[in-house]
Amino acid sequence: MQSTVIAPSILSANFAKLGEEVDNVLRAGADWVHFDVMDNHYVPNLTIGPLVCEALRKHGVTAPIDVHLMVEPVDRIIPDFAKAGASMITFHPEASRHVHRTIQLIKSLGCQAGVVLNPATPVEVLDYVLEDLDMVLLMSVNPGFGGQGFIPSALQKLRAVRERIDASGKAIRLEIDGGVKPENIAEIAAAGADTFVAGSAIFGQADYADVVKRMKDAVAATRR
Ligand code: DX5
Ligand code: ZN
Repeated sequence: MQSTVIAPSILSANFAKLGEEVDNVLRAGADWVHFDVMDNHYVPNLTIGPLVCEALRKHGVTAPIDVHLMVEPVDRIIPDFAKAGASMITFHPEASRHVHRTIQLIKSLGCQAGVVLNPATPVEVLDYVLEDLDMVLLMSVNPGFGGQGFIPSALQKLRAVRERIDASGKAIRLEIDGGVKPENIAEIAAAGADTFVAGSAIFGQADYADVVKRMKDAVAATRR
């Protein structure tokens, strides 16, 4: 099992003061910045692109930036994010014509690569590519919006993917995204996740450090 990572989704941050929000949440103990890219085509919402990623780097953010692409097609925009300072890039296999090629493209640009499984995407999509991946991201909501409720079947899927990762013997992260909060993070961790995205649960509270600590403590309690 990899070390625990809390990755706040800036989708729920105050975009009018994004640099300050990111500084504050990292100072509060968060590990990564989860960066949700939506295109009003693959998903019915429109968010931020490479210019904003680059602006965060120029602002002085040195933490890993975890770029979650909810765009179609994906290959055209990947080099732009690598250049803008992305650390890892994840994409939805449904949005790529050539999943293996997209993974190789991300890695060739020096970024870590991951695929994202929607709630109804079967785990078999990982066949033949799992060992090439640095991360698997499971969606526990349908992609497009923050603030939705955790879909319980994601727990069963976490267990299935955890088994596959352990069997591979590789250091592949298992990330969960959607509806994660201090109240449910323990059962999510127990099901096999090591990397936790949380948007509204963190940015919806006044005290980011308190939420991040409650999340980390809850995960640590399952590891003892
Ligand atoms: C949804 C995004 C998530 C979202 C999570 O498409 O991928 O990262 O921001 O938000 P919460 O934690 O509020 O469910
Ligand atoms: Zn996301």
